[in-house]
Amino acid sequence: MSPDRSSPSLDAQAQMILRANDRGGYTVPSARLYPFQWNWDSPLTAIGWACVDLDRAMREFEMLISGQWADGMIPHIIFHAPSDGYYPGPGAWGTNHQPPTSGITQPPVAATCLRRIVDGATDREAALTRARPLVAALFAWHRWWHEIRDPEGSGLVACLHPWETGRDNSLDWDAALAGVTPRVDVAGLRKDILHADPAERPTHDYYNRVMTLVEEGKSVAWDGPGFMRRSSFRVCDLGIQCLLVRADEDLTTLAIELGMTEEAASLERWRVRSIAAMARLWDPASRSYHSIDLRTGLLAKAISVGTFLPLYAGAVDRAQAGALAELMRGTMLRTRYVAPTTQPWNDGYDPKRYWRGPVWPFMNRILADGFLRYGFADIAQRLHDDTRDLILRGGFREYFHPETGEGLGGGDFSWTAATWLVWAGQDIAA
Ligand code: DGY
Repeated sequence: MSPDRSSPSLDAQAQMILRANDRGGYTVPSARLYPFQWNWDSPLTAIGWACVDLDRAMREFEMLISGQWADGMIPHIIFHAPSDGYYPGPGAWGTNHQPPTSGITQPPVAATCLRRIVDGATDREAALTRARPLVAALFAWHRWWHEIRDPEGSGLVACLHPWETGRDNSLDWDAALAGVTPRVDVAGLRKDILHADPAERPTHDYYNRVMTLVEEGKSVAWDGPGFMRRSSFRVCDLGIQCLLVRADEDLTTLAIELGMTEEAASLERWRVRSIAAMARLWDPASRSYHSIDLRTGLLAKAISVGTFLPLYAGAVDRAQAGALAELMRGTMLRTRYVAPTTQPWNDGYDPKRYWRGPVWPFMNRILADGFLRYGFADIAQRLHDDTRDLILRGGFREYFHPETGEGLGGGDFSWTAATWLVWAGQDIAA
């Protein structure tokens, strides 16, 4: 779908995409490329649904938690209905869960999106009441993050697979993935490259490494502590760390309103501990935060979109916020469309390949929120205006080329449509 340039019509097109991708209570990210329910896509799409149908928005969360595991994890994919258009499907994960799911998780953005929807509801009281079981389920998931993925209580949570970070093939994982010996060859099984240009997708070598990690998860029957011990990839992703800190804050607010005081107290304790632990992720030389390889203790070197997420988490002091703003202003001067997922001067930057360079609309909204939180309205405005231009030029694509503005990856993308409805299609960045 190639949008015309009038905003009302774009609003209608964004709504049409949500409806076309609706599979009855959950929204697929993009019909052919991602034909199931994805964990972090879902809440980020629900905020778009809330603009047109609050009930449908809440349903999205209810379907998401229907895939929750007994230990609290909410999986990264829930295979509610069969589709042979995607690899790795349920058979490749072998989780023996009902409904079928993958064996890993994804960034915890659900609580923040849920709070936004409740706060925006006309009948806020009714929305809050409906949110109660969701808050309980999300609390169990946050506990899973803070306990199963941080057994020593260090304050840094671990990711055991690059797909958990959502920034699948970011340069941030190159060093850690180099330590994974590929033990499978899945090149011939891939379906993603039938639906999107292979030059815009991860490489075969990457797939062989990440599917080796899936085999490791299967070898311990996806047991939470067992996988922590077994996985040859164990990083603290700055992105997850910050999204979780922010989500802890938002879930605390909802829990307090619902009278869930013990849950609220735990969430606040975890949040404070997580922020304190982030001191380990600050690199004075680059004056920025980085992800860390928990196996080697080494910080990832590249400057990625993750670098700016501590602002969204409210986890930095004024001086650090100023340093991050300076970094983004440098990118704004040197890049036509911000924010590239990797700064163009990093070795390995690839403007077309998924999380190694392209601009992602939903991520720009999150970054803008963080910059606004610290009063950098000019940066938030630039992120907003660039996102708007990109969608106007290229349509509701998955991601965009930071220099040419070309639309890339999947088409008619749900969270791009939602981002238009809640933010990019508005006049101002706030
Ligand atoms: C994919 O299949 O590319 C997904 O990003 C994994 O979640």
